[in-house]
This record gives sequence, C-alpha cells and structure tokens, in this order.
Amino acid sequence: MVRDFLNRANKPVILAIGIVLISLVVLTDYITYNLSFSIFYLIPIVFVTWYTGSKYGLIFSFGSAVLWYLVDYSNITYSVDGAILFWNAIVRFGFFTIITLLLAKLKLLQINLETKVRDRTADLENEISDHKIAKAELTRISTQLRELNKKIETIKEDQNTRIAREVHDELGQALTAINLEVLWIGKKYSSNIDIVNRMLMLSEIVSNTIGTVRKISSDLRPRLLDQLGLVSAMESQLKDFSIRSGVKFKFNASDNFYLNNNNNSITIFRILQEALTNISRHSNARNIDISICNTANNNIEMHIKDDGKGFNVNRVLKNSNSLGLIGMKERAAILNGNLEINSSSLGTEILLKIPN
Ligand SMILES: Nc1ncnc2c1ncn2[C@@H]1O[C@H](COP(=O)(O)OP(=O)(O)OP(=O)(O)O)[C@@H](O)[C@H]1O
Ligand SMILES: [Mg+2]
Repeated sequence: MVRDFLNRANKPVILAIGIVLISLVVLTDYITYNLSFSIFYLIPIVFVTWYTGSKYGLIFSFGSAVLWYLVDYSNITYSVDGAILFWNAIVRFGFFTIITLLLAKLKLLQINLETKVRDRTADLENEISDHKIAKAELTRISTQLRELNKKIETIKEDQNTRIAREVHDELGQALTAINLEVLWIGKKYSSNIDIVNRMLMLSEIVSNTIGTVRKISSDLRPRLLDQLGLVSAMESQLKDFSIRSGVKFKFNASDNFYLNNNNNSITIFRILQEALTNISRHSNARNIDISICNTANNNIEMHIKDDGKGFNVNRVLKNSNSLGLIGMKERAAILNGNLEINSSSLGTEILLKIPN
C-alpha cells in the first residue's frame, strides 16, 4: 500500500518527504555527535533517487555531504584541520554520487524489465484471445462437419434401402422366375438325361445367385430391422456371426425394450456390425456378451464385450488409419451420444450411450 502510494505520489511530495528524512538524520547526527551516522545519510538519498531519478538524487547527495560537513564542523571539540573535514566531505559526496548513479541505473533496469513483462503479458493475452477465437472457429467447423456427416449418413442409408429393395425385389424375383423356368424345361425334357442334368446345374447356380442377392440386399439394409425391429435384427446378426466365426455369444435385451426414434436403430446396428467385424478380425475372442437396455435417465445403452486379447485404445485412436473405431464414435456423436472403448489383455468392452 505504502509502495503504491509512493509510486503514484508526485515529485514535490517525494522531495518533501526526502527533506523531512534528511532533517531528522541531521538532527539526530547533531545530537549524537560522537556516534557514526554515515549510513543514515543514505536513507533520504536512496529514497529520493528511487522515486524521482538521479537529478534530485545528486542534489540530495550534495546537500547531505554539505550538511554532514556542517554537523561535523559544529561538533568539533578537538583540534581537527578544516582541510581534513573538507576532504572527508568530498569523499562522502563521491560515495553518495556513486550510490545515486548505481541506484538510478537499477531503477531504469527495473522499469525496462517491468515494461518488457507488461508487453509480453499483453502479447500473451492477445495470443490467448486469438487462440480462443480459433478454438471457437474450430468448434463451429467441427459442428458443421458433424451435421454434414449426419446428412451423408442419412443419404447413404436411404440409398442403401432403395438399392436393397430393388436388388431383392426385382433381381430376386427375376432369378426365382428363371429358376422355375429352368425346372420346367428339365421336367419337359425329362427323357433327355443330359438336358435334365444341365438344367439341375443351372438351377443350382441360379439358387446360389439368389442367395448372394439376398446377402447383398441384407448387407445393404437389414430387412429384419424394418420388419421385426432392432432387437430381432441384432439377434439374427449375432446368430449369423456366431455360425461364421465360431465365437459363442450371449445376448440380453431389457424387457419391453423400446426406441423412441426408429431412425436410430440403423446407427446402433451399424455400430454392432463394426464391433463384430473387429472381434472376428482382431480379437481372437471365444465368447462375446452383448446387451442393450433403456436406462432410467432415458438413454439407450449397448454393451459389447469380448474376451479377446485386447489392444491399446489410445494408441490406435491416434492412428488415423483406424477408421472403424473412429466411425463408430462419430456415429454415436451424430446422435448426441458417446462411445467408450475400454480394453485390456482380458478383452475389450464397448459401451454406447445415446439419448432415446
Ligand atoms: N475387439 C478388438 N479386439 C482386439 N483389437 C481390436 C478390437 N477392435 C479393434 N481392435 C484393434 O484396433 C484397431 C483399429 O480398429 P478399426 O476398426 O478402427 O480399424 P480396422 O479394423 O483395422 O480397419 P477398418 O477401418 O477396416 O475397420 C484394429 O486394427 C485392431 O488392432
Ligand atoms: Mg474395423
């Protein structure tokens, strides 16, 4: 507080205080004439130099040397050569001058340092504000990107649904018709064993192609999802997965599971598909445990747990090649949810949470 006051005080106030201080020192020196008082003369000099600069500091140095001389002179009780007193006064003045100049220099350095600190602080504040602007811009762009992603996903799923329907209905029906015709020809020429064999071969090829078409169509858009709902589609997907991979599964859906927005079912389903693909490709798991439920706070939670070898999640997520996991997280974020991945040498657990 005192320091603030002195820093803000104007020159006349400082000089007045300086004069009071020097008067006190001179008076005390005069009264206690046998005691050495040199150090106390420095107090007003240092004070005035620090707060007003070298000019008044030098004036006070000169004044102090003169006053000290006068005090010495008036206190002479023994015979001392006047020239010695004069010489002493000049030495003191020299000493005070050096102190004043050094102090003035120190003060200048301090001012420079303070200015530098202030400038740097201002620069840093500017940088922080630029940083904040850039961060806000980044948030805006990433929100836009998410919106765009959402649109792309919707368009992609709509298109998938349309192509799946056409492939299944048009191509599937045409192939079924071809099959019937082939079988008819086979019957018609049942006496010609070559034709019958050829027709049976042809029918088998067509039947396999019908299977392929169904698979393509169901990969594009799982029909069960629309026909029987998410839980049945998940169960069917898990059965197929288990047959293909040999991995055993446990599936648990909460009683009366419900989805407020049916459009979310495809996202949940795609996340499950990607998780299952990863399990079969990377985990060496023997068992998986899947559950889906509604929670008290009106979320949907899906757990996918495997007992495979696990992986280092942080390292993998930093690697921009891991598009499967990033895609899963992104799909969850599009629905304002989130996807947590925990993995250890005992296996991997994926927890999806989305608002219902
Ligand atoms: N369940 C899992 N068990 C063990 N490792 C896994 C599992 N899931 C993912 N990983 C590891 O994480 C990596 C990244 O998975 P991610 O799905 O992102 O990419 P990917 O499967 O390698 O390729 P793609 O982009 O085709 O999905 C995998 O390469 C694998 O090492
Ligand atoms: Mg993957």
